[in-house]
Amino acid sequence: MSQEEVFLGTTQTNRNESDVNRDRSRSRLGLVVTGVVGGSLVALYAVTAPFVAPALRKICLPFVPATTAQVENVLRVLRTRTGSLVDIGSGDGRIVIAAAKQGFRASGFELNPWLVWYSRYKAWREGVRHSTSFYISDLWKVSFAQYSNVVIFGVPQMMDKLELKLANELPSTAKVVACRFPFPTWVPEHTAGEGIDTVWVYDAKTFKSDLHGEMTRTVSQQEDATDSNT
Ligand SMILES: C[S@@+](CC[C@H](N)C(=O)[O-])C[C@H]1O[C@@H](n2cnc3c(N)ncnc32)[C@H](O)[C@@H]1O
Repeated sequence: MSQEEVFLGTTQTNRNESDVNRDRSRSRLGLVVTGVVGGSLVALYAVTAPFVAPALRKICLPFVPATTAQVENVLRVLRTRTGSLVDIGSGDGRIVIAAAKQGFRASGFELNPWLVWYSRYKAWREGVRHSTSFYISDLWKVSFAQYSNVVIFGVPQMMDKLELKLANELPSTAKVVACRFPFPTWVPEHTAGEGIDTVWVYDAKTFKSDLHGEMTRTVSQQEDATDSNT
């Protein structure tokens, strides 16, 4: 083998090795890029899915935080009240935290885990960790029987179903505050604020006796129908 051939052979081998190295580092880069893109997509999905999911439920109750005026109106109508308070669908915890600062033992029930974790962090940072609790829960699957003050910033599509649930569960000493959208059949005791910041206050004694009256009426109508059929 001539010197020239040896030289060409070595050059060829070096080229082959550098091609292999280039291919290896390309495929490593490809793996890293796929990992980063895949990981980012999974992370994005994990963060956004809980915010999008409420829109896909039968009753769509999205995360729309209460305005400052709305929070002030809630606290104003409850200023003479004490004890336990619950915000149903507590979002980022602003009503629960503000209520705890006013002396309530305040709880929030919220479907979105990110909002619950954020609420707990905010309560800790604002010094009300011990008087607040936040639960990752579906509002339709828990009972609010233990609360004497109830706050709800809901949507019109859910208010009739929630009326029934609360009328059945709450003690007659309870007060309910509806933000932005009133309950369809309950008669409010009073209201505060205006426009989108309006809040309506309901007394459980009144709506529970209405429910009792309604049930009595329904039962006696059914009895009348049975009597006339016999
Ligand atoms: C209109 S926002 C009100 C947030 C908070 N109460 C406020 O006033 O700032 C309604 C909240 O209810 C939550 N939510 C929706 N469906 C729910 C369910 N089935 N159970 C519990 N929370 C729910 C949403 O994630 C959202 O944070």
